[in-house]
Amino acid sequence: MSEPLRFGILTVSDRSARGERADTSGPALAQTVLAQGWEVARSAIVPDDYETLCETLSTWADARDLDIILTTGGTGFAPRDVTPEATLAVIEKQSPGLVEAMRAASLKVTPHAMLSRAVAGIRGRTLIINLPGSPRAAVENLEVVLPVLPHAVQLLRESPDAEAGHRNMHQGGDGDV
Ligand code: MTE
Repeated sequence: MSEPLRFGILTVSDRSARGERADTSGPALAQTVLAQGWEVARSAIVPDDYETLCETLSTWADARDLDIILTTGGTGFAPRDVTPEATLAVIEKQSPGLVEAMRAASLKVTPHAMLSRAVAGIRGRTLIINLPGSPRAAVENLEVVLPVLPHAVQLLRESPDAEAGHRNMHQGGDGDV
């Protein structure tokens, strides 16, 4: 692949957004991404707020300067956990294989992996992947999908137009151009 993968890293945490707790998950993910020779082009900390999440995810994806957005946090059962709901609201296609693989691998580490409601999917040419909130869990989950990310991004970048492909599919074309 010619250009390094470009990432956005979005930490979702009420306490970190208020400055009450240092964000260690975002930096841990950034370190993992940079160790691959890839780039972190955007990062931010936002509260567990549905509207803020939808706005940030859609703005970042529509800017078209990111291949992948990683979110960390807000995927569990706490009443304020809405990262999967906001992600589902902004993506055009789901990518269930990524989260199935992450949960399968995480189940070997902890039965609590069953409590992850993480989703992944595509908006335009950007892949959004939800990861858990703790730094260790976030990195463990990212490491599961790392090997397939270059091919995923290659397909997203090569597609002449993700939206046109979607239209072709509905008009009887093969859609996967
Ligand atoms: N996956 C791995 N690999 N390791 C972990 O420790 N923690 C789980 C799960 N996935 C965990 C994991 C727990 S305890 C929860 S509640 C869910 O991720 C969701 O985490 P979140 O609420 O921090 O987003």
